Amino acid sequence: MSQHTVLEQVDTEWWKEAVVYQIYPRSFNDSDSDGIGDIPGITDKVTYLDKLGVDVIWLCPVYDSPNADNGYDIRNYRAIMNEFGTMADWETLLAELHTRDMRLIMDLVINHTSKEHEWFQRSRQRDGKYEDYYYWRDGAPDNPPNNWNSIFGGPAWTYDEKRGQWYLHLFDENQPDLNWRNPDVREDIKEMVTWWLEKGIDGFRMDAINFISKTEGLPDGDPDRTLVGVEHYSHGPHIHTYLQEVYDDTLADYDVMTVGEMGETSIDQTAEYLVEGGGGLDMAFQFNHLTVDEGPEGQWTLDGWGKWDLSEFKAIMTRCQNELAGEWWDAVFLGNHDLPRILSRFGDDEGYHRESAKLIATFLLTLRGTPYIYQGDEIGMTNAEFVSLDEIDDPMTTGIVEMLLAEGRIESYEEAADLVNYRSRDHSRTPMQWSSETNAGFTDSEPWLKLNRNYTSINVESAIDDTDSIWQYYKELIDLRHAEDVLVYGEYNLLLPNDEQIYAYRRTLGDETILVVLNWSDKPTTFDCPSINTANAKVLITNYESTSTNPKRHEFRPYEATVYRL
Ligand code: NOJ
Repeated sequence: MSQHTVLEQVDTEWWKEAVVYQIYPRSFNDSDSDGIGDIPGITDKVTYLDKLGVDVIWLCPVYDSPNADNGYDIRNYRAIMNEFGTMADWETLLAELHTRDMRLIMDLVINHTSKEHEWFQRSRQRDGKYEDYYYWRDGAPDNPPNNWNSIFGGPAWTYDEKRGQWYLHLFDENQPDLNWRNPDVREDIKEMVTWWLEKGIDGFRMDAINFISKTEGLPDGDPDRTLVGVEHYSHGPHIHTYLQEVYDDTLADYDVMTVGEMGETSIDQTAEYLVEGGGGLDMAFQFNHLTVDEGPEGQWTLDGWGKWDLSEFKAIMTRCQNELAGEWWDAVFLGNHDLPRILSRFGDDEGYHRESAKLIATFLLTLRGTPYIYQGDEIGMTNAEFVSLDEIDDPMTTGIVEMLLAEGRIESYEEAADLVNYRSRDHSRTPMQWSSETNAGFTDSEPWLKLNRNYTSINVESAIDDTDSIWQYYKELIDLRHAEDVLVYGEYNLLLPNDEQIYAYRRTLGDETILVVLNWSDKPTTFDCPSINTANAKVLITNYESTSTNPKRHEFRPYEATVYRL
């Protein structure tokens, strides 16, 4: 059967065919010289995004916020943060994107609000219907209601003197959790969701969405877990009912995409969100494949982090490809604003900067599922170096380091510095490197977070001028994905599961087959795969200047990535 005939039988959607580009507005482009990126700054770069070829922009939160967690603490869902501009600026951005056939998805943060949100301010005064908008519990001021940990370190409860009760916050103390059991909370959220949909957006990335339903009574968590309490709020008892309600009453009437952020969920649990009737999520950001380099106590383990094993990574990715993207659909990503730079984590940002960045790009753009590119990855931005805690803005990093100090597990920041320099969320938040000019062309004044020093050599301007750059390669890959339905809808089959250097897979749709061979290592190797016939292979794209057309007759160089049509 031809590709065309097969396509008539698959469930095609614009969001399956799209390549998404994630923008962290604070760090993207500053148009008014205050050192902070803003919405007009993004609008100035719409032509850049169009040239790269991406289809959808995911904008991290731009709502009014006091910025305890850079916008993930929303004070007013219907207003734009002053530092970022005005609602009119936002409307201009949307119009500019739509004029170029690009779409915009917004971050939807509905597990919690800011402490400064009107709902919380009224709730702490027990004002009418707002009294139970959050999780309030009695208890002596030195005795939190249960033993749950905040994801940002320390207890998940803070005592509010005004109300004389404790409130729950899974994240920072400035981010109180909304009580989804209260139907008025759900009504207010749905109204807000519809308000944004009516403004013409194209979808949502739903923050911490699997945390919105908590076990009734908020019982103590298992004290032996790294994140105490998580079993009582991740994937909670009413999660699918709530999501279904939001879907039925809001999203169902619009042609939009949804991607749920789902930390702490297994692959099996994630699948439950994707099935039809499972709450209307089109795809998910789950993190199982990103645990491979963690130490025994998770991502903030002091020792034993940083090493990862290719065959373990392949096994997890293959489960995600088959059981999530294959059965339903999924988001394909390795980095975002909460994670270290992909190149420093999964590539070799020194010895094989260009080659390994291109290999990772090849991987992201040839899998089944919607690929997400995080700003700056298209030019090979890398982790920065933070010499003291003062250089860090991220409340997660500072919260965890403070917790380690308080627990006596470290005596000074220096003892955690290597871990921070591997793991901190600020690595991906250093300003976008546009040029080699002062402040990387990001701002005319002091940037809010220090720049990565390597901006003089790694920047957009030089990447666009260089025909062999990482940027050009991303662009070519995006074009290739747009041209080849097999790369979007084709089935995924892993080859050589136990090979410790080669990650290879086939994508097949009808009579079309594409073979992807990645030498994910810094040593040469061969592609020793008797089960497939490569005699007539043709190279579609490669990250080395020349390569042989038959992968079996070829020595793959360090981080070589080649895509063939079979
Ligand atoms: C996940 C977001 O990606 C992260 O940046 C934020 O800190 C937490 N959720 C809390 O909203």
